[in-house]
Amino acid sequence: MIDNFKRQIDYLRISVTDRCNFRCVYCMPPEGVKFTPHWEILSLEEISRVVDAASDIGITKVRITGGEPLVRKNILDLFQYISANPLIDDISLTTNGVLFADMAENLKKSGLNRVNFSLDSLNPDNFRDITRVGNFHDVWRGINKALELNLHPVKFNVVAVRGVNDQEFGDFARLTKELPLHIRFIELMPIGECNPWAEGNFVAAAEIMQRLQEEFGTLETEMKVTGSGPAKYYRLPGAKGTIGVITAMSNHFCNSCNRLRLTANGQLRPCLYGNQEFDLKTPLRSGASREELADLIAKAIRHKPSQHHMEEGWTDRRVMSQIGG
Ligand code: GTP
Ligand code: 5AD
Ligand code: SF4
Repeated sequence: MIDNFKRQIDYLRISVTDRCNFRCVYCMPPEGVKFTPHWEILSLEEISRVVDAASDIGITKVRITGGEPLVRKNILDLFQYISANPLIDDISLTTNGVLFADMAENLKKSGLNRVNFSLDSLNPDNFRDITRVGNFHDVWRGINKALELNLHPVKFNVVAVRGVNDQEFGDFARLTKELPLHIRFIELMPIGECNPWAEGNFVAAAEIMQRLQEEFGTLETEMKVTGSGPAKYYRLPGAKGTIGVITAMSNHFCNSCNRLRLTANGQLRPCLYGNQEFDLKTPLRSGASREELADLIAKAIRHKPSQHHMEEGWTDRRVMSQIGG
């Protein structure tokens, strides 16, 4: 479906849980956040109904995210259900990777096409400091498994934070020389726990690129990496992988935005930042038909704003894991 600003909306990001087994410093306080009660979270069957309805009005790509999606019970059933829908041609996952290795084969069998890992450090001690609980070696095992199973393109999301991982930008870049990985540096957004802390720790994509150029020389612009997201990609000469930046703050990509978000508690969010949400949980639970759900999704698309006004401040107190990254 085309929205009011001539954007084709074909990508649905689904947060299947607001729970997470990490406590990343920029995302949550050490004690975690209050989880949504179980009954408020959509069941896998309800999510499947939303996907079917969304596919009727032009959604062809689905990303499963969280919180940490792999902590959700029976999540493989959802992959199986979605992959049986012939209108959906791309099913991806965003995960912190800690449970991935042991689930990878079954995820692939259940229809997973590709995976993005949230990984902010390559140094096990630093990784532990950032995530507060994560074991780097478990995640690394998962990444190797993804490569082994050809879940390409395998991408990393590295949230750039000054004084936390900015000394590692070069190490991430070097990794792309030998491995077919696509490293994406994400500008820190002043959301949730890191608001207003983010301001002093923000590193702009332009600075990241400048620092990489100082270390490696000119990077080639890369057109080929597939995906539906907002990253721009570059390549070190002869490298197997690429380096990307997601300019979440310094350069809006709103005019090419292709997505809708479904929160774990059944709200359709046309924009990551805007507070506007469209309730699907109530109609889902009062027996709405596939056509009625499709009409509601179309309505949310018609209300998708032309762009966000993040610089005016984030008024939603929820963290990324609650709205689905
Ligand atoms: P592909 O490129 O298709 O692999 O997916 P993606 O980049 O959309 O997915 P992923 O979940 O890996 O997102 C990476 C990060 O990009 C997110 O964590 C956000 O920080 C950022 N991001 C994703 N979607 C949006 C968006 O609509 N607006 C903004 N500002 N940032 C976004
Ligand atoms: N700014 C930028 N990215 C964030 N993420 C979580 N919180 C923030 C933030 N404040 C990222 C995670 C993950 C993705 C889903 O969102 O690291 O890669
Ligand atoms: Fe699209 Fe909203 Fe993201 Fe802008 S902030 S790119 S309008 S979802």
